[in-house]
Amino acid sequence: MKGLILSGGKGTRLYPLTYTRAKQLIPVANKPILFRVIEAIRDAGITDIGIVVGDTAEEIKTAVGRGGRWSVRVTYIYQEQPLGLAHAVKVSRDFLEDEPFVMFLGDNVIQGGITSLVEQFQQSDWNSQIVLTRVEHPEQYGVAELNGEGRVIRLVEKPKPPPSDLALVGIYMFDHHIHQAVEEIEPSWRGELEITDAIQWLVEHGYKVFPYIHRGWWIDTGAPTAMLEANGLVLEELTPVVEGYVDRDSEVDSRVTVEKGAEIINSVVRGPTIIGERSRIVNAYIGPFTSIYHDVVVENSEIERSIVLENSLIRDVPARLQDSLIGRNVTLNRSPIKPKAFKMNLGDHSQVGLL
Ligand code: G1P
Repeated sequence: MKGLILSGGKGTRLYPLTYTRAKQLIPVANKPILFRVIEAIRDAGITDIGIVVGDTAEEIKTAVGRGGRWSVRVTYIYQEQPLGLAHAVKVSRDFLEDEPFVMFLGDNVIQGGITSLVEQFQQSDWNSQIVLTRVEHPEQYGVAELNGEGRVIRLVEKPKPPPSDLALVGIYMFDHHIHQAVEEIEPSWRGELEITDAIQWLVEHGYKVFPYIHRGWWIDTGAPTAMLEANGLVLEELTPVVEGYVDRDSEVDSRVTVEKGAEIINSVVRGPTIIGERSRIVNAYIGPFTSIYHDVVVENSEIERSIVLENSLIRDVPARLQDSLIGRNVTLNRSPIKPKAFKMNLGDHSQVGLL
């Protein structure tokens, strides 16, 4: 069995962060989402993994390499344009050969991994198995309708009104019949070859498509609020370790991870939270559900429920930062130069919420 991770796409909803970084490489609890996806596939016993890449190919190749770090073998498959999930399967034809495979969207985070799903599919004679979960707004997803025996009888992409509350999670198992399906379907109204249409084609041609109902949490990290939510959920599951230095004047609770070389000086840190390698927290408050990445300085400032990426500096900020996504090499500082005013140098699509 092979694995196929889709890691193209522009990540427009995460601008400006994704102008300079692939969305799949944004860390959640200090580990890129894509690494979590690779680990989930590897933990299910699959070591031959294809990653479909687009505009951000070089960055992804640099970060992931050939997969040796995870004891897997990674093959890169170039998709010139993001023309849909079924199109990604089409361009992966040579890599996939006729083997069954799991397809996983590279920006999804799912609780509990996919081992039992992969096992169930391997033991069945099904042609496809799709992960579904109950959601509040099914109209935002691909939605499945099941019959009395629990078999999938219909799939629709972003339907109004939705036939059920069972959304497609972005993890799919297929055997080789999917290759015929992706050749037969036509682009949808949004100009994409939809995987939902390809699965619907399988259903209509008598192939066996069964669901796997996922009951834990699942987050598609496409938007900033979802990214922060995923960060909180993953932090809650982390087993905390303190490998850095905490001075005697600091108060750091038992749900805080302090990575190597990090220093906490005269500060209060409440978990679940992670402080990255070589970061310095000085006279500061770091609240729950915060991920501070590597080489960050937070001094005389307060921050909670946020993600801060590497090399950023937060110093003397007069109010608490909350629900914030802060990129790399950002400086948030009090300006010593008069007049006393907010002085900003923001990238395109930045969003700042002032008091
Ligand atoms: C895609 C799929 C959709 C699925 C969703 C999960 O949607 O087409 O069926 O529910 O991923 O994240 P997209 O993100 O392309 O809108």
